[in-house]
Amino acid sequence: SKQQDSTTPSWKKVDYAGVYKDIAALLEDENYDDGSYGPVFLRLAWHASGTYDCKSHTGGSSGCTIRHAPESEHDANAGLEVARRRLEPLKKKHPNISYGDLYTLAGVVAVQELGGPTVKWRPGRVDKQAVECTPDGRLPDAAQGADHVRDIFYRMGFGDQEIAALVGAHALGRCHTDRSGYDGPWNASPTAFTNFFYTELLDNTWVPKKWTGPMQFVDKQSGAFMMLPADMAFKTDPRFRAYVERYARDQDAFFADFANAFAKLLELGVSFPEDAPLYRFKTLD
Ligand code: HEM
Repeated sequence: SKQQDSTTPSWKKVDYAGVYKDIAALLEDENYDDGSYGPVFLRLAWHASGTYDCKSHTGGSSGCTIRHAPESEHDANAGLEVARRRLEPLKKKHPNISYGDLYTLAGVVAVQELGGPTVKWRPGRVDKQAVECTPDGRLPDAAQGADHVRDIFYRMGFGDQEIAALVGAHALGRCHTDRSGYDGPWNASPTAFTNFFYTELLDNTWVPKKWTGPMQFVDKQSGAFMMLPADMAFKTDPRFRAYVERYARDQDAFFADFANAFAKLLELGVSFPEDAPLYRFKTLD
């Protein structure tokens, strides 16, 4: 009835399995990048969430302030309008879903449909207005090393093992000169979720790229693959490296730890309704 409709919270009126399928249908496009929007969806979900500060309890995916200026225009978020634009028709089709739920679910779809682990996910984020945008500088700076990476992720409430697992997402996608200024993919299969970030990091000799762009590394043998200065910290820092070696040897261990850390990332700072169900979505195939 009408009465019931007006008292039911909007998040309860959404068919989340249907949204999952609709996002999955938007992944493939042979004319975009390496043929999939998955990597940029994953990056959107991470940047929407990674602004969390566990001391002030501000930021995170809950308010989805990443879609508003000035946050949308922070340097770290350059290029993410591509993902937001691609997802926009689904907000029209499923008007009761919050943007925070839509963008985080897009990250889950990307991981799962590109061959990664099942990621537990809950709905119930409530969008906020532009005045609640987080300040610039909360996301990691790729030009820096282990101390900076720890400062940023400890502020979110993560430990070294979780940080080392999360950065394994850099098996997917690529850097774009017109977004971050960096250039190239991390490996030869950027649309498959694998443990290749770790194997490539350990197995190659990485040398500074000879160009006029920002300082980054390329593999010495082919020059086709890249590492950011911040990525190299996972090889040179002994505590990070211990996890890198484990994940390079054991893809199952990586998948399990990534699934936990990524689910935690997507929930940072969110107060879920008590009756929000926990979903484990099935992949399309
Ligand atoms: C791409 C930095 C951690 C997922 C990138 C890019 C940079 C970057 C500079 C290139 C963006 C572009 O030019 O399009 C960093 C730094 C990190 C970090 C400094 C921390 C040490 C993470 C985490 C995730 C992630 C935790 C997810 C869990 C991705 C993905 C891409 C990407 C999937 C590819 C995007 C695409 O292909 O469009 N990252 N990142 N990153 N990052 Fe990270």
